[in-house]
Amino acid sequence: MSLSNRRTLTQYLIEQRRRFPGASGELNALILDVSLACKAIGRSVAFGALGDPNTDQASDADPGLDLKLQGGASKSMDLVANEIFIRTTEWSGNLAGMASEEMDAPHQIPVAYARGKYLLVFDPLDGSSTIDVNVSVGSIFSILRLPSDANEAEEPPGRDVTEADFLQPGTRQVAAGYALYGPATMLILTVGAGVVGFTLDPNLGEFKLTHPDIRIPPDTQEFAINSSNSRFWEPPVKRYVDECLAGKTGPRGKDFNMRWIASMVAEAHRVLLRGGVFMYPRDTRDPRKPGRLRLLYEANPIGLIMEQAGGRASTGRQPVLGVQPSELQQRVGVVFGSRNEVERIERYHADTATRDVANPLFAERSLFRD
Ligand code: AHG
Ligand code: MN
Ligand code: MN
Repeated sequence: MSLSNRRTLTQYLIEQRRRFPGASGELNALILDVSLACKAIGRSVAFGALGDPNTDQASDADPGLDLKLQGGASKSMDLVANEIFIRTTEWSGNLAGMASEEMDAPHQIPVAYARGKYLLVFDPLDGSSTIDVNVSVGSIFSILRLPSDANEAEEPPGRDVTEADFLQPGTRQVAAGYALYGPATMLILTVGAGVVGFTLDPNLGEFKLTHPDIRIPPDTQEFAINSSNSRFWEPPVKRYVDECLAGKTGPRGKDFNMRWIASMVAEAHRVLLRGGVFMYPRDTRDPRKPGRLRLLYEANPIGLIMEQAGGRASTGRQPVLGVQPSELQQRVGVVFGSRNEVERIERYHADTATRDVANPLFAERSLFRD
């Protein structure tokens, strides 16, 4: 085993903190706790069909970190991962509260622990519908500040968090990232100064900096969309995909390749490292669900990473990060990846808005407008 001179996640975070002499170190501590959660989830999913003996079977060894199910029933990996996130981060005094795709309401920090100024928002396991066939899955997280409200002086310190505290646009994220549990476990992170990637050294159990400055190529010949939904697509999306499929002899004058893994975090990773465009756009399938992906847990953190890597993330009509959330589990149409392709898709949306005013489905005040 050799100790390479690659920086660890801890070293990277300490170096970043030097840019902010007044910083307390709480954000760094929180990110390290999240990275521990990701290591634990990565280990757990690696047991596959065997089942992780640490989470499935009763053990009284460490009640503070007891991740198994109450009553011994088997729990979905999503819920195990949710529990791991909570238990590894709630104790530290850095968090005011958390919200997860797997919980209907915000998680309150137990009174036994101190409460801090950050909000942790996460999708504990993304792509989990593919876990049974051993496809790469991941955990996505976003860190926000607890908004300071006018009444703060009258509130007891460490008040309970409310849903409204979390309803902040993606531009307010302090940090965001994801872990990918693939052939190697990786952690991709932005603290607002570009995007960096770490690979888990399985010998040391440490994340090592392997991708110091990730930049998304601005152009691509690869797109990802679930084309079984094509009959529900809006005209700008249909137009874009049709033009890609027309290839060299079509309006784009080049051939495109297509990918669909059904694990968004794995698609985001591919797009980040070698370019491409990913779409889960708003469609007409179910008017109550404008898109498939969740704004707070998926679109915003991945959106910040894309933008910080020089790519772009859009609803088609506006930057994802500009959307004002109205509820915790809100869904949104998403297009992200190589800048020039995303901008092209946005142009097609703008064109259609003017061209299709005669079509009430897509008109300014119809059901399907953002
Ligand atoms: P999750 O596993 O957290 O529920 O999210 C699943 C999402 C995303 O990972 C993926 O891109 C998409 O759902 C898959 O959708 P399809 O079933 O339409 O392929
Ligand atoms: Mn998800
Ligand atoms: Mn999930």
